[in-house]
Amino acid sequence: MSSVWDQLWFVKCLFTSCESQSVLKDAAIAVQDGKIAWLGPAAQIAAPEQQAKQCHYFPSSCLTAGFIDCHTHLVYAGQRASEFEQRLTGGSYQAILAEGGGIHSTVVTTRAASEAELYQQSAKRLRILLKEGVTCVEIKSGYGLDVENELKMLRVARRLAHDFPVTIKTSLLSAHVLPPEYAKQADAYIEYIGEIIMPAALQEGLIDAVDAFCEAIAFSPMQIESLLQKAKQLGLPVKLHAEQLSNSGGARLAAKYHALSADHLEYADEESIAALAAAGVVATLLPGAFYFLNADKKPNVALLRQYQVPIAIATDANPGSSPCHSLLLMLNMACVLFGLTAHEALMAVTINAAKALGLETTHGSLEVGKVADFCIWDVENPVELAYWIGGNPCQQIIKQGKIVRTIHE
Ligand code: NIG
Ligand code: FE
Repeated sequence: MSSVWDQLWFVKCLFTSCESQSVLKDAAIAVQDGKIAWLGPAAQIAAPEQQAKQCHYFPSSCLTAGFIDCHTHLVYAGQRASEFEQRLTGGSYQAILAEGGGIHSTVVTTRAASEAELYQQSAKRLRILLKEGVTCVEIKSGYGLDVENELKMLRVARRLAHDFPVTIKTSLLSAHVLPPEYAKQADAYIEYIGEIIMPAALQEGLIDAVDAFCEAIAFSPMQIESLLQKAKQLGLPVKLHAEQLSNSGGARLAAKYHALSADHLEYADEESIAALAAAGVVATLLPGAFYFLNADKKPNVALLRQYQVPIAIATDANPGSSPCHSLLLMLNMACVLFGLTAHEALMAVTINAAKALGLETTHGSLEVGKVADFCIWDVENPVELAYWIGGNPCQQIIKQGKIVRTIHE
């Protein structure tokens, strides 16, 4: 008899990331041609070895959809440990930026790095991130701030996607801060992004979305709006860094332009949250930045729940506000610091993170027909993924139906 499926996995528990039947006990999942072909109770598979060419048995493990890190600034050169020390002795993130440090100092190091150096430094971080079951990552530009260096960053992101078993979505974040050559000319810089950088990046096939930092220390909603209009004209989805350090109207703007996501949101008020809900925008929470900046205002999770805004969580991996490459740690922090349930946190790094990247029809949950991206964990209960601090229970990672990593311990 010829085999039906390419591969079949047997596990103690499947966390499907679907609203109904989110947990299946003593289950199996089958893969054919890189897609999920079947999933259900293991007992329904009578003679496994005749059903699939290869069978894998993990009788005491849990299986989840591959994790999705939907907000990172993974491509940059250098690090900012000395600014961390400055902040430990009283300096503030905003003051350091105003004095020409912060994002500006990473712009200097990133501009100075060759594409090969940038690739090598970024690949090192990506490797760490992927070890914890991450199969899709978003990467932003935003440390180049001119056409040459923004495109350099984005090319590195595309090369990483080519070389590693990961789906990478890129966002153009040229409106991150005002570069020194445009000091006091924010409008001219915004025009330069819209007229030069964005079309060039698009033409080279380097961007999947447009992002901007809406904040008093960066750009106002009015400045950003013209950029979002331009993005829409070019058929690019948008997303925003919004209400991280103050309530500056970014979330309402994100809603107006039907952004994929509005990110950070510590200062988002009820009106903004209602607008996000009405426009179907995902709220991406970034507990690493909240923690590392020792912030005191938390995003209003109760209101996000009340208005049924889908919540995603991401690392925000960057050298200034979140030098973090662990999505598992973010699960724990989202629960402990922001009050998410473990179930919400798991949805936040799977199906809701997929929504934040426009990938929800193909990725982010275990459903027949979706891409077979999943991860097997040495835990009895998926809640443990948000519970443990430190350690990595990841046993096997499957990307598009292929085993790309097995950890033997
Ligand atoms: O998401 N908010 C703006 N951008 C980053 C920080 C970047 C940096 O400090 O280098 C963030 O927190
Ligand atoms: Fe960010």
